[in-house]
This record gives sequence, C-alpha cells and structure tokens, in this order.
Amino acid sequence: MRILVVGSGGREHALTWKIAQSPLCDALFCAPGNGGISRVAECVSIDVEDLEALGDFAEQEQIDLTVVGPERPLIIGIVDHFRSRGLRIYGPTAAAARLEGSKSFTNELIERAGVAGKRFRVFDTAAEAQRYVREQGAPIVVKADGEAAGKGVTVAETVEEAIEAVNRCMVEKAFGRAGERVVIEECLVGQECSIKVFTDGETVVPMVPSQDYKRIYDGDEGPNTGGMGCYSPVPAVTPDIFEHVVEKMIRPTIAQMAREGNPYTGTLYAGIILTEDGPRLLEYNCRFGDPETQVVLPRLDGDLVEILLATAEGRLDSIDVRWRDECAVCVVCASGGYPGSYDRGKEITGLSDATADEHVVIFHAGTKRVGRRFLTDGGRVLGVTALGATCREARDRAYNAVGSIEFEDMYFRTDIAERAIDSE
Ligand code: GLY
Repeated sequence: MRILVVGSGGREHALTWKIAQSPLCDALFCAPGNGGISRVAECVSIDVEDLEALGDFAEQEQIDLTVVGPERPLIIGIVDHFRSRGLRIYGPTAAAARLEGSKSFTNELIERAGVAGKRFRVFDTAAEAQRYVREQGAPIVVKADGEAAGKGVTVAETVEEAIEAVNRCMVEKAFGRAGERVVIEECLVGQECSIKVFTDGETVVPMVPSQDYKRIYDGDEGPNTGGMGCYSPVPAVTPDIFEHVVEKMIRPTIAQMAREGNPYTGTLYAGIILTEDGPRLLEYNCRFGDPETQVVLPRLDGDLVEILLATAEGRLDSIDVRWRDECAVCVVCASGGYPGSYDRGKEITGLSDATADEHVVIFHAGTKRVGRRFLTDGGRVLGVTALGATCREARDRAYNAVGSIEFEDMYFRTDIAERAIDSE
C-alpha cells in the first residue's frame, strides 16, 4: 500500500515510524514532515491546510490511505474533500470534527448523550459573559468556542482574569472568528489524563491511557505548552475508571454522533479530569495527541496500518488490537525560550548515542535535516521515548538517553513520570 501521513510534529514521526514497520506499507510519504521523518518517509512540501494540493498529490501518487495528524485539516474538511475525490482517508469529517472545533457543540452534544461533563454556559456577547462571570465568581474557565490553536482556554483564578479572557476573545478578537462565541465552564480540580479510541463510527477500540505534562517547568509551574512529556500506563486511571470513561463517556458520545447523522470515524481523544467525585470529561480532540502518541504507539503490539485501514473501511470489529504490558515514558527536549520565542538552526548532537539502548526511540518534533546533520527547527524539538518493565525503568532509560543529546539552549523537564513512579 502507498500511504500518506499529513503533519510535521512528533506525533507524525511516531505515526510514520509505526506505519513503516507494517508489512502492508510499500511506500510512505509525509506532508510536510520534518528532519527525523525524512528518514522513514519521503517528505513532500505541501501545507497541511492546502486540501486541494494534498488531494492532487494523493491522486498522482495513487495513495491508498491518508492518515491525518493535526486537527486543523480535519476541522476544515480534509476527510470530506478526500472522500469526494474517492480517496481513502483516516479521520473524522468536518461535521464530526466539531467535537474538537466547537466547545459549545461538544458540551451540548454530551449533555444530550447523558455524559458527565462540566456546568457550562455559551455567550454571544461580551456583556452577558462578563455578567455571568461576576455572578459565578472564580476560579472559572473561559474558552473561545472555536479551535484557537490550543491558545483559547483560560483557567482564571480571579474574576478580573476571567473578564480579561472574555475581552481578549470577544472585544480584542485575539482568536478571530474562533472567539466570537465564548463558553464559560466550572473549574474542576484533579489529575488530568487522556484516553483515546479508534472508532469506525460504531465499533470503539480503546488505546492505552496516557498523561501529559502541559506546563513548561518542573512541578507544573509556568505557562502552558503543547506538552513537555508524558507516560503510559497511568496508575491513577484504575481499571474501573478506564471502563467508566470508555463505557459511560466515549461510547455514548460516538453513539449520539451516529444517531444525529454525524458518524465519528478516526481517533477520538477524551481529555479527562479525575475529580473527587469521579472522572469528568474536560474536552474531546478529533486526532491523536501530541506527545501522547509517542508513548501510546510504542506500546501497540501489532500492525497499525491494519487498524487504520479497518477503521477507514468501517470494519474495525474484524481487528484484534493488543497492547504491550510495558511502560513508556517520553521526555520532550525543547528550544530554550519555548513556549515564547526561541532560535532555530542549532545543531543537534548525540542522537546515535542516545539510541544505542534498544529500548529508546527518538521522535523528531521540530528538526530539519541538512546532509547528515540535524538542526533544531521548532519549539518542541525531540521526544525521547523509552520502554521499560516499570515506569521507573522507562523513565531512567529516557533520561539517560536525553543525557547524550545536546544542542544550544536545550531545555527539558526533569520530573516526567515521577507521579507514576511514586505510585509504583
Ligand atoms: N498534548 C495535548 C494534545 O495533544 O492535545
């Protein structure tokens, strides 16, 4: 089969790495890819939002299956576009991707599905939103309704902060149309984790859970990032919690989407918060997580292409999906300054030494290949993943590998997976 992956980060490197291992894969392309991905796939310089050009490429290259990494092409309709051209693709339609693209759509849908979410209200004017914030008090969560590249959510500790967030969305229009409507939600407290599933709209096959570290500094301090590391499994997600999330949240959501004429196909990512009163849904994403995919796929014991193909063809019930009973830890190495401004073009050394341990795999998130050298080319540069019999073993292997890698101003958190090790 000829396969195309759309995207350019660590998630897409993990996808191409796993797809390349499949005996079903004869040729692999990635648009646009990155330095590390270019070692397993042919990178083609097409923007992820250029649906027409991606469709043309898939037709010219006779691509049998396209797999989409980031949310943006899904939200703007890449699946609809490819299907209208008779091209096979893995992911949800634009109507189904509203589970990530519109917070109000999701909150209202899960209410109809009877899923435990958060108390919320939707506002189309700043004055009404501000009045509601004053009535409710803080802490409180303000979200731009639309997809705002992960920047549209404010967990406000004070009423003033919440009002500022409303103004940023609705008055200053910092997120454009995505912030024309805001959703204001109660603030829940607890550990966050995610459970993703493969689904063809009917059959639901869960992946192993994972936990991401969103803040830049150790101890969960500092600004939010795309994710500074993660681990799987998550001891806080007990078998009961896992079953509750899959049976009482995800399955009813998928069933409700089908009932309402928007069958959801592809990966559904449920962001969960473990409150004192049990698990509650924080958000849905319409894609694989990043860096979560970098710990989930190394634990997949089998052929990812078989699963993706069966999902895209609506026959997921015919596939047996198994997971390795091992732990995976991923430590993200970032450019100094991230998530603010940072330099690019720093030479990365030590990559071969870091992978001398067969339990370690390095996923490139933001790199460029120049001849045999790799240069930094993004905020998150590398995801260093290791497997181990225990989380401690996986963590020690991952940090040992990180110790071999160098580039100017490299930054990483030193406490990834500590929470899991404490409970081991
Ligand atoms: N790491 C969070 C996400 O992929 O949305």
